[in-house]
Amino acid sequence: MSFFQNKIVWITGASSGIGEALTYELAQRGAKLIISSRREEELKRVQQQSGKPAQIRTLVLDLEKADSLEAATSNALAAFGQVDIMIHNGGISQRSKVMDTLPAVQRKVMEVDYFSYIELTRLLLPHFQERKTGHFVVISSVMGKIGTPMRSAYAAAKHALHGFFDCLRAEVWKFNCKVTIITPGYIRTNVSRNAVTATGAKLNEEGKNIGNGYSAELTAKQILKAIEKGKFEKYVGKPFSQERLAILLMRFFPTQAIKIFMKAMPE
Ligand SMILES: NC(=O)c1ccc[n+]([C@@H]2O[C@H](COP(=O)([O-])OP(=O)(O)OC[C@H]3O[C@@H](n4cnc5c(N)ncnc54)[C@H](OP(=O)(O)O)[C@@H]3O)[C@@H](O)[C@H]2O)c1
Repeated sequence: MSFFQNKIVWITGASSGIGEALTYELAQRGAKLIISSRREEELKRVQQQSGKPAQIRTLVLDLEKADSLEAATSNALAAFGQVDIMIHNGGISQRSKVMDTLPAVQRKVMEVDYFSYIELTRLLLPHFQERKTGHFVVISSVMGKIGTPMRSAYAAAKHALHGFFDCLRAEVWKFNCKVTIITPGYIRTNVSRNAVTATGAKLNEEGKNIGNGYSAELTAKQILKAIEKGKFEKYVGKPFSQERLAILLMRFFPTQAIKIFMKAMPE
């Protein structure tokens, strides 16, 4: 029997990319799913395309609307009576220089990619504590470990996730609550098309690295393996890639790594 059989999993950002691929893989493995994002029609499409629509409930949610997250959490808990695994995945990337980026854009990225994650976590924690079980899965990024040009807001939000969820893990293991942080490399999704630019407008272009990235389907399988093994932190993506090398360099040779990012990383 699959580890995920009958587990109740709430995934944000399930209308596209990694979240969509996770939905299909989890549904095939027998999980019951609450899938969230802003676009209801896309969530319904994913529900139907999963081949297991009866196992899936859709829950429209805008991560930028902080005051809507409490009601959303109540609705998620009501869908199947509990949540076993929360996959924080919904998010936006950013492509702009610090000097050009409007403060409102810096705040928007933090709101969606960081504050919504910590608020949904706070709201779910009493449920996990009461049941003495629960698993938070956080889709960070290689940009949560390094800094390169044109990604200040995104990297800041992703770095913040590591600080917050490492602290959370140290607090909640006592009641059997787990935290797995995933640091994907380049994955072929709409992430760069949907990225915000200096003014908040959509980039609407596929970056070369993303276009040549790892498949979302294989990424989903790697993420599920990390969850099953209860990993604290896991890189997913191409096994031999510049992104994976970048994480290793930053960890063991930070001065040299930073010099390389200053000179070699594309804008
Ligand atoms: N692809 C990569 O190379 C890569 C690498 C590292 C990390 N990641 C991370 O992986 C996660 C998923 O990204 P992806 O690559 O699958 O990109 P994607 O195809 O653009 O998907 C992003 C998802 O987030 C949802 N979303 C965006 N803003 C939202 C909001 N305000 N409220 C609710 N949902 C929102 C979108 O749904 P709606 O538009 O329907 O709301 C969509 O389902 C993100 O956290 C991203 O930072 C991706």
